[in-house]
Amino acid sequence: MRLFVTGTDTGVGKTEIAVGLLRVMVARGLTPFACKPWESGGRDADSDATRLRHAAGDWQRPAEVCLYRLKAPLAPAIAAEREGRRLSFSRVVRHVRGLEGDGVVEGAGGLYVPVDRTHDVIDLVRAVKVPVVLVARAGLGTINHTSLSLHALEGVELAAVVLVQGTKVADPSVPTNRRALERRFPNVPFVGPVPFEPNAKRRAALVERAVEPIIASR
Ligand SMILES: Nc1ncnc2c1ncn2[C@@H]1O[C@H](COP(=O)(O)OP(=O)(O)OP(=O)(O)O)[C@@H](O)[C@H]1O
Ligand SMILES: [Mg+2]
Repeated sequence: MRLFVTGTDTGVGKTEIAVGLLRVMVARGLTPFACKPWESGGRDADSDATRLRHAAGDWQRPAEVCLYRLKAPLAPAIAAEREGRRLSFSRVVRHVRGLEGDGVVEGAGGLYVPVDRTHDVIDLVRAVKVPVVLVARAGLGTINHTSLSLHALEGVELAAVVLVQGTKVADPSVPTNRRALERRFPNVPFVGPVPFEPNAKRRAALVERAVEPIIASR
């Protein structure tokens, strides 16, 4: 069971969902791999790669989880250019293809984020053929962003679309968005919305409960 967690945008809840998927896998007795091929900005201690590695059971070396750690909080290709570094897309493809067993890959930002001069995240999704979990905001704007991402993913196996309410603001679209998207994409399994929960422990429990059916159905 391998899943590629991508999103309609940056900051939509990909890491929260990827961590939840890994925890559910571990709870089921699996030893999943975590993979965050490119990561930009932030500190190592609370990076996505570190969180994913912990959630997966801490058996991987950090350099196996994240191939390219970039300083500036920018799209990987842009951050790399600043540092005068060259990112090898084929190295990432080989690495992800070579991961054995079950696990979760988290992309960077959304699908059309550049990861070198000629490739975007979606090129990795298509190259590795790992089923996708698309994370989307639960609120206003998500019908548009989710539809755009799903059209971009035509022909790719979809495990689920997960709606996440990552902010506290009152938004009357939250209760209706999932139904509206289900009508538009009747063959896509939707999950959520995962409610806003500021307490990390309670949030983790909510996320695990929400993503459990994605694992159970595979
Ligand atoms: N259900 C929720 N309730 C409250 N806060 C949430 C919820 N889901 C996500 N968040 C918060 O929203 C922020 C963005 O989430 P996350 O880091 O998972 O996004 P991301 O898509 O992985 O971002 P990036 O593109 O930087 O990798 C985090 O601070 C996270 O804790
Ligand atoms: Mg993330």
